[in-house]
Amino acid sequence: MHPRVAGPEALAEAAAVLRDGGIVAVPTETVYGLAARADSDAGVAAIFRAKGRPSFNPLIVHVADRAAGEPLAHFDDRARELAAAFWPGALTLVVPRRANAGLAPAISAGLPTVALRCPAHPMMRALLAECGFPLAAPSANRSGAISPTSAAHVAASLGARIGLILDGGVCVAGLESTIVALRDDGSWSLLRPGPIVRAQIAAILGADREATPTGGIEAPGQLASHYAPSKPLRLDAISAESDEFLIGFGDLSGHTSLSQDGNLAEAAARLYRCLHEADAATSTRIAVARVPESGIGAAINDRLRRAAS
Ligand code: TXA
Ligand code: MG
Repeated sequence: MHPRVAGPEALAEAAAVLRDGGIVAVPTETVYGLAARADSDAGVAAIFRAKGRPSFNPLIVHVADRAAGEPLAHFDDRARELAAAFWPGALTLVVPRRANAGLAPAISAGLPTVALRCPAHPMMRALLAECGFPLAAPSANRSGAISPTSAAHVAASLGARIGLILDGGVCVAGLESTIVALRDDGSWSLLRPGPIVRAQIAAILGADREATPTGGIEAPGQLASHYAPSKPLRLDAISAESDEFLIGFGDLSGHTSLSQDGNLAEAAARLYRCLHEADAATSTRIAVARVPESGIGAAINDRLRRAAS
């Protein structure tokens, strides 16, 4: 079976599928998501099944705005400030879940918290408005595989398992949202680096209040091996060996390049596209040029390290 890949005219159809507890692949500015209504046990179970996702890995809940998030979780002043600064956008907040949030329990995988994000992509925003309920959505790829930044990537990874893909074009940010956990003791942690960089968070929450994440349990999705192509991947390459597909950066050109100008935002936007291309190439291995660690480079290197392990 092939999924229907549809444009903005399919919003009402997508909303109807979601209302009935079904799943739909949706565009966001970071990566494509696989969505279900967040209050539907059946819908959320269908997400885990389609992705082959382990049940201990919780999901992000997408809301239309902060007002739609408030009934789900406790927002303190810090959460409100971050939402005011970065929503809609590529920031996910891990905050205490309200007892009467009405969310499917599987979303939080046993944690007392919930991860909330208000996405910026116009088609996703229109869908949230049309639905009127929050949407749980992990990235729309098989668990552990490369994240999708186009409708074609979704179809290639999950095609046989989903009926409808809303096509919102190529994702402009190209890397999953930054995840920040806010703790009761006033400290905060960066659980996943992303398009909103650490310095932007620290400017609001204070660099002195940053605590190291407490480990694997807190961000179960941050497994060492993730975002992984089907072939071995070598980092910090300075040239390609004969059986390698080289992904270049800046002056080091390869079979393709993250950014010939050495532009890190472009490299972030192109990272998964390049990994998908390398995975589909005939070469048996992949090599990637060194990417600087500054700014969003930290998030690019985080994904590359997981793709390599
Ligand atoms: O940009 C994004 O965030 C994309 C788009 C679709 O919104 N979504 C995404 O979802 O990347 P996913 O499932 O691939 O990654 C969600 C991450 C996982 O690492 C998961 O463990 C973590 O969020 N997470 C979810 N709920 C959590 C919670 N309550 N506490 C800590 N980590 C949580
Ligand atoms: Mg993912």
